[in-house]
Amino acid sequence: MALKQFIQELRKRKKEVLTGGGEQALKKQLAMGKLTARQRIQTILDEDSFKEYDMFVEHVARDFDMQNKTLHGDGVITGTGTINGQHVCIYAQDFTVAGGSLGLMHARKICKIMDHALKMRVPLIGINDSGGARIQEGVNSLAGYGEIFFRNTMASGVIPQISVILGPCAGGAVYSPALTDFVFVVENISKMFITGPQVIKTVLGEDYTMEEIGGAKIHASVAGNAHFYARSEIECFDQIKQLIKLIPINNQQNALKINPRPPKIKKSIEDMVPEDVRMPYDIRDIIKGITDGSEFLEIMELFAPNIIIGFGRMDGETVGFVANQPKVLAGVLDCDSSDKAARFIRYCNAFNIPIITLEDMPGYLPGIDQEHMGVIRHGAKVLYAYSEATVPKITVIIRKAYGGGYIAMNSRHLGADFVFAWPTAEIAVMGPEGAANIVFKREIETAENPEEMRQKKIQEYKEKFANPYVAAAKGYIDEVIEPAETRDYLLNALSLSKTKVAYRPEKKHGIPPF
Ligand code: HXC
Repeated sequence: MALKQFIQELRKRKKEVLTGGGEQALKKQLAMGKLTARQRIQTILDEDSFKEYDMFVEHVARDFDMQNKTLHGDGVITGTGTINGQHVCIYAQDFTVAGGSLGLMHARKICKIMDHALKMRVPLIGINDSGGARIQEGVNSLAGYGEIFFRNTMASGVIPQISVILGPCAGGAVYSPALTDFVFVVENISKMFITGPQVIKTVLGEDYTMEEIGGAKIHASVAGNAHFYARSEIECFDQIKQLIKLIPINNQQNALKINPRPPKIKKSIEDMVPEDVRMPYDIRDIIKGITDGSEFLEIMELFAPNIIIGFGRMDGETVGFVANQPKVLAGVLDCDSSDKAARFIRYCNAFNIPIITLEDMPGYLPGIDQEHMGVIRHGAKVLYAYSEATVPKITVIIRKAYGGGYIAMNSRHLGADFVFAWPTAEIAVMGPEGAANIVFKREIETAENPEEMRQKKIQEYKEKFANPYVAAAKGYIDEVIEPAETRDYLLNALSLSKTKVAYRPEKKHGIPPF
């Protein structure tokens, strides 16, 4: 056969594979408002950068008449490409082929691209759109999931792992995304659950839709399984591109440095905090008042909004922000906000991203619900994550820093490298009202005018403790700064921290309060 004929044969075979699950299935996919697996990959990656691997892989199942079925690529497309010129490994399950279900060869393809990503130390992006374990392949499918979970865990903290849920992600399949760093969901398209409507109906006799059990909004706002929520696949892909620009490609590299720019703010930073210290404000305004170009990529925006996490740039380099949000629940730490913050701190530490903490909060949320949900265990995660982290850690106390909250939010005592306080900072065991009621209980009760005495004692307590100067006198904070000086102090601290060395005792690993 002449070379031309070989090439023709190759082209014919490729064309055949590109038909995926056939015209009917493709039409159904598009009718659901979903892109096809290859379109998804091509839209996320830089134009013409996709190099597909293992296009000709076929399933090896022999039961249930499977030997007579062809499943192109075994229902998953894998390969490499670039995003903003940066190499990534990628896979996308193809729902048009046997519902993107995971059989032995499908799993092998995913494992192969995962191994490649880890070996080459580049980010891994997995697009999930699948009916779960391929029923006809039995234990081979389960084995496949196990192999994927193992690799997710091995790669954790070495390369960024991104999961995109663009269809069903059912049963045990959900645990691969759960083991990865960032999960993206899209309104009306993402469905992620351990047990679907039929199982819940059978076992519990209750009727729910897939959307109610595990739709995009549920995961982004209630369950906390998703980190980014989008209204369309295109918006979701834009979010992925923004994230990839901000994070290092592996734990040995720094994120891309881009030209430093000053913040683009209209009002001065001190005008962002209300005069009345009891009034709430949006901490995101302060973050944007500090970052280059006032840009900030918020993560888990809809979940536990009493704490804000995300990435911005300072002097062109990526920094992670952890900030109490006074606008929501006064910015308290509770079970969910502790989980949210602790995981993010660990991400930043694993990938050498400095952390800036902005503090304004009255402590941990009191209440029997929180106690019973394990606020002790969850709250401890924040203490653990900050103490363990060796990246540069800088805190700015804006207003309240009470009790456990003062300690937890990257205090000097947990190893902060720099702690700055605005003159409005109140560093105390608890708020003046609560403190006065407890400490001066007897004087207030026996006073001729108890309310007058209470106000007097609150004022006395405020003057004594609710300011930054007691902590400053003990060296617990490094400097009381004017709000307008914040960016300057932070830039200086970050620059100085570039050569930071931190020692930790040698151990196999610690035992964080998971
Ligand atoms: C084999 C499957 C499949 C599966 C779907 N298909 N799921 N084939 N194994 N798990 C096939 C269908 O037979 C159909 O094939 C095609 O994919 C499209 O599926 P439809 O049902 O027609 O699509 P739709 O109506 O959109 O419903 C999608 C779905 C539903 C909601 C995902 O298919 C479904 O409920 N599937 C089962 C989900 C599930 O319970 N998975 C968990 C498995 S256990 P044809 O040939 O007709 O086009 C598990 C445990 C893993 O995953 C544990 C790891 C630790």
